[in-house]
Amino acid sequence: MTKKKLLSSPPKLNHLSWFFCKMFTNFLLLLCLLVYLQFNPQHHNRFPHDPSFSSSYENFQGTPKIAFLFLARHRLPLDFLWDNFFRVCVSLSFSSHLISSGSWLLHFLSFEHYVSDIFCGLQNADADKFSVHVHSEPGFVLNETTTDSEFFHGRQLNKSVQVVWGEPTMIEAEKLLLEAALHDPANQRFVLLSDSCVPLYDFSYTYSYIMSSPKSFVDSFVDESTGRYDPDMSATIPRSKWRKGSQWVTLVRKHAELVVNDNFVYPIFKKYCKRWKAQRNLPKKILQILELNFLFQKRKLTNCIPDEHYVQTLLTMNEVEHEVERRTLTYTLWDSSPAKDWRQMWHPVTFNQPDAAPQKIKEIKGINHVHYESGHRTEWCRVANIYSSCFLFARKFSQGAALRLLNDGALGFHDPEAALPA
Ligand SMILES: *[C@@H]1O[C@H](CO)[C@@H](O)[C@H](O)[C@H]1NC(C)=O
Ligand SMILES: *[C@@H]1O[C@H](CO)[C@@H](O)[C@H](O)[C@H]1NC(C)=O
Repeated sequence: MTKKKLLSSPPKLNHLSWFFCKMFTNFLLLLCLLVYLQFNPQHHNRFPHDPSFSSSYENFQGTPKIAFLFLARHRLPLDFLWDNFFRVCVSLSFSSHLISSGSWLLHFLSFEHYVSDIFCGLQNADADKFSVHVHSEPGFVLNETTTDSEFFHGRQLNKSVQVVWGEPTMIEAEKLLLEAALHDPANQRFVLLSDSCVPLYDFSYTYSYIMSSPKSFVDSFVDESTGRYDPDMSATIPRSKWRKGSQWVTLVRKHAELVVNDNFVYPIFKKYCKRWKAQRNLPKKILQILELNFLFQKRKLTNCIPDEHYVQTLLTMNEVEHEVERRTLTYTLWDSSPAKDWRQMWHPVTFNQPDAAPQKIKEIKGINHVHYESGHRTEWCRVANIYSSCFLFARKFSQGAALRLLNDGALGFHDPEAALPA
């Protein structure tokens, strides 16, 4: 009897001490990890910093920020997705995991995943690694009524312009965004995004990727077509410096400053890059008739699409092309199929809910090189000399498609339930 009693009570004690033992081991492990991280701040960085490139503009002391610059029409239809993207890094997800789960180690089979969680949780508690800036058209107010995401509250520029497609006003809006973001010296990288852009990875990966390169990411190539360069520009912008490329650039601070302070190239764009430039002196009524005339437009139109040339050409004029990774971080799927309207001959495809399958996202993430027909150049995507996937962002995504990304967990966010579209 006594034996039996003795045998039956210890398991309870064992169970309890086992639990405490486990907790204690967990605690020790956590302590080791934190000490290790403290002395190896580089560890979180999956892309080692390229030491071959140093320059004076990298002198900022402290945690560098990435400025996310949203060029929006009105509201941000994908704010709920970005909310999740930013939220992972400001929530103390690590400690909550620790409290809620005794066997937290099992939850993180991947060490990388685990470390990024800690890094975001503890080091980024004050959102000190990013800032958000939004340019919406005049008259629109981005506030608690128009967005549920706190990351966008109070982030609208006070100054804005009416953006007209194909006109230099687009560049003006970009300049305003960069100027506002430059006020914070911690902003060291500047990512230009549209209101239909989505992130393809979590914040930690995105941050490491962008910060580990000392260069800007600017899609830039020699534009061999004759339609967009106006020979009248040649006194200021020689034909040899004229470049073309995606509008969606990521700039280092030095290059952002070049764009904001530029009073040389921009006025030329403003003067010559007008829609229907060849007919700009004609009366409005006649212009309208001409605009309706399909054949006439196709033949005579000089439309230089300034946003696809300005940053590229400006950086080339300033002879800093070697400080640029000549590719964009934003994926766009172009539809070149014959369209009813010539204006849509080359237009970006919008991903709707059925198009945003996990397999498709995986394919986009798997792209590791870009081929340029111009110059027969193939750009193998690298970050700090490590071959990597090319794209961190993608466009154009509908609300339904973005919601699907979140629900499918295609972007690797941890907690995709925080904010959903209203
Ligand atoms: C947001 O701005 C609009 C327009 O100025 C205003 O009518 C509305 O009351 C504001 N909402 C909040 C919650 O401040
Ligand atoms: C806009 O102006 C207000 C008041 O002048 C200021 O408090 C706010 O920070 C400004 N917002 C931005 C994004 O600059």
